[in-house]
Amino acid sequence: MLECGKTVQKLIIQEMCCNWLLKKQRKVFVRSVMRIAVIADIHANYEALEAVLGRISALGANEIICLGDVVGYNANPNECVDFVRHKKIICVLGNHDACAAGLEEPDGFNPLARTALFWTREHLTKENSMFLMTRPRGHLLQDFYLFHGTIFNLHRYLIDRNDALENFLLLSELPGGPRIGFFGHSHIKTAFSLGKAGVEIEETLDLPLSPDKRYLINPGSVGQPRDSDPRAAFLVYDNVDRRVTFYRVKYDVKACQKKILSAGLPPQHAERLAWGR
Ligand SMILES: [Fe+2]
Repeated sequence: MLECGKTVQKLIIQEMCCNWLLKKQRKVFVRSVMRIAVIADIHANYEALEAVLGRISALGANEIICLGDVVGYNANPNECVDFVRHKKIICVLGNHDACAAGLEEPDGFNPLARTALFWTREHLTKENSMFLMTRPRGHLLQDFYLFHGTIFNLHRYLIDRNDALENFLLLSELPGGPRIGFFGHSHIKTAFSLGKAGVEIEETLDLPLSPDKRYLINPGSVGQPRDSDPRAAFLVYDNVDRRVTFYRVKYDVKACQKKILSAGLPPQHAERLAWGR
């Protein structure tokens, strides 16, 4: 009982520290950032993460933010969380992160995802598990809001116009009424806009942002793309030019597959990377 009380107290203190750090990060962020790389769904794929980071650096983006699901499916959860943690990257909680850290049970996961999840729980260091556990479910920065699935649910998908309309309304009710929401979870590059004509789907890879519209944007997945293109995906948001540009990067899929198989993870997680499914 005493032990349990101590653990809860420790978690509360860590959550307070996390919130303090996020506030501090936000102040620095607001002052300095112009080109922001937005990454999502890394899913323990360190080869894909390294390739994306190389391109981000070449593009001269001066900040990175992450939309959750740092772990799950693939074999390098600690390497990926270490990167996000040590670089103090602003990162929201994903559904795989929540389950890996023990905040939730993976009841709705398919058996293959669940197997990888239990493997991840066993292999995550205590520090990395605690880091994931203390990620916020949403985070407001400048005029945009970060979340994983939908604004109030980590597990739900935002994939069609109806989902978009519901989330545009929720977005407008957040403090300050942010104009842009960045989200992940579907692993598919997506951009919705809301203007006088209603909800529209923006297909372009280079999207100028109109001051008269609101946007909901998903960069696609770094570590497990699902749009039949196996290359890692991310985007850059330029908050001076008011423009979002989507990118794809080749990475060493074979090296990642080899690690998945030697770790004893389900081989299907390796196979799907080759097809981008
Ligand atoms: Fe994901």
